[in-house]
Amino acid sequence: MSDLLIKGARIVDAGREMAGDVLIVGGIIREVAEEIPPQKGIPVLPAEGNFLLPAFVDLHAHFRDPGFPEKEDLLSGSRAAAHGGFTVVSLMPNTDPPCDSPEVARYVLEKAREIGLVEVRVVGAITRGLRGGELVDMEALAPYVWAFSDDGHGVEDHRLVWKAAKKARELGKTIYPHPEFRGLPSRELGEELMVARDLWIARRTGARFHLAHISSPGAVELVALAKEKGLPVTCEATPHHLCLSREEADHPVNPPITTREAVEVLVTGLVEGIIDAVATDHAPHTDADVAAGVPGISGIETAFPLLYTRLVKRGTIGLRTLSRLLSLVPARIMGLRQRGFVREGFVGDLVIIAEEEITVTRDFLFSRGKNTPLLGWRLWGKVHATIRGGEAIYLDGKVKGRDFDDHRQVIRGG
Ligand code: DOR
Repeated sequence: MSDLLIKGARIVDAGREMAGDVLIVGGIIREVAEEIPPQKGIPVLPAEGNFLLPAFVDLHAHFRDPGFPEKEDLLSGSRAAAHGGFTVVSLMPNTDPPCDSPEVARYVLEKAREIGLVEVRVVGAITRGLRGGELVDMEALAPYVWAFSDDGHGVEDHRLVWKAAKKARELGKTIYPHPEFRGLPSRELGEELMVARDLWIARRTGARFHLAHISSPGAVELVALAKEKGLPVTCEATPHHLCLSREEADHPVNPPITTREAVEVLVTGLVEGIIDAVATDHAPHTDADVAAGVPGISGIETAFPLLYTRLVKRGTIGLRTLSRLLSLVPARIMGLRQRGFVREGFVGDLVIIAEEEITVTRDFLFSRGKNTPLLGWRLWGKVHATIRGGEAIYLDGKVKGRDFDDHRQVIRGG
């Protein structure tokens, strides 16, 4: 936990915008004011002309460790997250072995802690081996996970979801469905039916549900109804479902990128607060996987620039709203406190954004996964620095641990 003074930023969070300085002491925001004088022994990071936001929190990422380090591992994934402006990531259990036991959860958490770049949280599997047949030992997993999901597959067996929801309620955990019944006449119907079932199970059990990557208009409608009833339900959409239509970006991902009309409904759902948060579903794969048509988008580094370019620059939402969607609400959904605002007493996790263009190239991506339909795209909103607990973990092309150990080495005048 470090000390840092950031000067001259355009501070934006979910609640306000102001020009000023931010002082972090011992990893916690000590002061936010128009002018804070330099303090003895505290490095100064100049941010004139740049936006300063709470660092982003990703509810939904795949770092593929254990099992598929050639796609991504905890180190490459952590670097990609830092480069994308994220300081907290919640990892999905579809690893090999899957995260269906305390041993795997502990392995992920301990390795991430040793790497020490971003804060990693874990989602445990709902069913053993993600096979959909038998519940995991939820009680044994509970100390390590904030939610349970078979992401990649919807759990088709109603009785299992019912039992999982009852148990999750008892344990104070969230059920995090990948809403998709397979083999129905249309994919949208498969999503809608599972959303409807899960909302009803939430209603009957009182368990908290957070729905992954909503992509169909019908699902938005159902969630709106559930919210009217006051059910303990939240949902997310991904940057690619909110910003891209299948007419312009043809890339295999599950759920698929949808039509222009459906995108409009999703964005309206976002503006109206029916969709609570944006989550990346960062799903890195190798070139060979891509050639074989394996679905997924490596998206944690392009999330902010894509949303900023497509939704903020075009005036659909303000930067404050984007901050709410990428920081405040995801942190709340995960149960993290004192995050999501640039305010005294809040965690000193911040991101500095330059109003500059980036070009998405293979080299731009720190992730091992180069699988994105955005290669060659130019986007606005360049992450200049990612600060975790007052310490820069990413700064101007350099990452902590690879390019510097102590951020004073790269902060001017530090
Ligand atoms: O496209 C996808 N890829 N959707 C998922 O739900 C899983 C993910 C993956 O793990 O590659």
